[in-house]
Amino acid sequence: MNKMIDSDKLNSNFKTDQLAQLASRVLSGRQSNLRAADEPPVFLERGQGQRVWDVDGRELVDFAIGMGPGIWGHNNSEYTAALHQQIDKLLITASGMHQTENEILLAQKIVEYVPCAEKVRFVTTGSEAVQMAIRLARAHTGKHLFIRFDGHYHGWIDNVLGGKRQESADAPPHATENSADPMHTEGRSTTAYQESFKLPWNDIDALRKVLEKYEDQIALVLMEGVMTNGGCCIPKPGYLQQVRELCTKHNVVFCMDEVITGFRMGLGGAQEHYNVVPDLATFGKAIAGGMPLAAVAGKAEIFELLRTNRVVGAGTFNAAPLSMSAGLATMQMLAKDGNAAYQRIDAMQTKFMSEFRLRALKNNQKVLVQGVRGVFCVHFTDLEVAWSQADLAAHADFAKSKRFRALLIEQGVYAGRGDRYFVSAGMSQEDLDIGLLRIDKALALLSREFSVPNKDFNLVLLGKDGDVKLLTSQPSLENLLTLIDTMPMRQRELRIGSCR
Ligand SMILES: Cc1ncc(COP(=O)(O)O)c(C=O)c1O
Repeated sequence: MNKMIDSDKLNSNFKTDQLAQLASRVLSGRQSNLRAADEPPVFLERGQGQRVWDVDGRELVDFAIGMGPGIWGHNNSEYTAALHQQIDKLLITASGMHQTENEILLAQKIVEYVPCAEKVRFVTTGSEAVQMAIRLARAHTGKHLFIRFDGHYHGWIDNVLGGKRQESADAPPHATENSADPMHTEGRSTTAYQESFKLPWNDIDALRKVLEKYEDQIALVLMEGVMTNGGCCIPKPGYLQQVRELCTKHNVVFCMDEVITGFRMGLGGAQEHYNVVPDLATFGKAIAGGMPLAAVAGKAEIFELLRTNRVVGAGTFNAAPLSMSAGLATMQMLAKDGNAAYQRIDAMQTKFMSEFRLRALKNNQKVLVQGVRGVFCVHFTDLEVAWSQADLAAHADFAKSKRFRALLIEQGVYAGRGDRYFVSAGMSQEDLDIGLLRIDKALALLSREFSVPNKDFNLVLLGKDGDVKLLTSQPSLENLLTLIDTMPMRQRELRIGSCR
């Protein structure tokens, strides 16, 4: 078979289409199955602040900024200067054999800023950091099981990815495969779900009961401090403190997964914000502002297991020089001028969240805009606060969110997966203004599709260019076809949308 690709045969003038065709011949989909398979392909060329430009020169507002790492936005000159300096000096070390001074300097900063951090170990991805925390907790306690929660994400490895919570009160609460879940995967080890229990989050009684019953088997409680992956839900007042107390009582390691909240919510992360000190914490994403870096930090007593080789951790790129300089630059820049970067994020995010709400209201859409510093979510719901996935499942309109996301993309705005908007210290007023203008347009289009003047109408036919026809409930097929007949030909690409 001829594996060479003849680019003359590509049939579009847009480079995006050409690249998409080429990609389909050599790549098997996008680089993450958890993201945008059904969205139009986008090939990026450059970025500045919170905007990016694609290979056809199209400008997009980027509120995903890498799903978290981009605490400086794109192309921050102070940050990139630090990387350039390092590139000119040293790129390669053999981890475990060689070390650099920056490795110590960065660990010192983490120990200084993060309440639980007495010792630090670097790895490359958040998924690895979580697996290291699980191994450490098992070795430290001599127990095997860990507890994780609905709506939290801890990476793509078999034992933490997805799963449906066990609802029978009699059975041990292991998750089960759920083929409707976007995180369902074939090929998972058949024993992976036997390693953990999956519980509802923000429900201290559920945790207490399980810890009391299975105390002698549970090594670790693993959770995000804020459920950033499942709707930006914050912990109920006192919840994290109670988790801390229960873990101590039952000799269970408490690991806060701060891969998103770490260095985004503040230098001390969610644990500092909520004044709760876990035994271990995992970091990634914003820790190095865009370079691949993750870390586990925590109690010296637990880290002795690594120092004494009772627990093995390894990785070719652990503490790679470029990631170390990126992390160190990030720490220095975040702490500069009395944490000015965080003040800037706060100012922009406050405007962003309140303007979002106002524009939704203006377009007759009820939204819940909730989050913490550096990241927030937008839900179409009447709720005033969502504490859990169950709240959102019962009260949020996911079909509307999905449609809104598609409209945003048409307008040139990218939010993160899960309707998340990441705010960076590099966001300019212009980035925000352009973003809001486009969000406004998308909301207006959404309103045309989803608003109904009369509750009796529960189906709406949408013409191709936004023309809306309302139907009374349960229209017969015959009526539907008659109605379609009355629409001009060019509008007959119809979708059926449900209305509340
Ligand atoms: C809270 C949390 N933990 C762990 C991970 C996994 O990190 P990575 O994608 O770097 O493996 C993520 C990724 O989104 C995350 O949000």
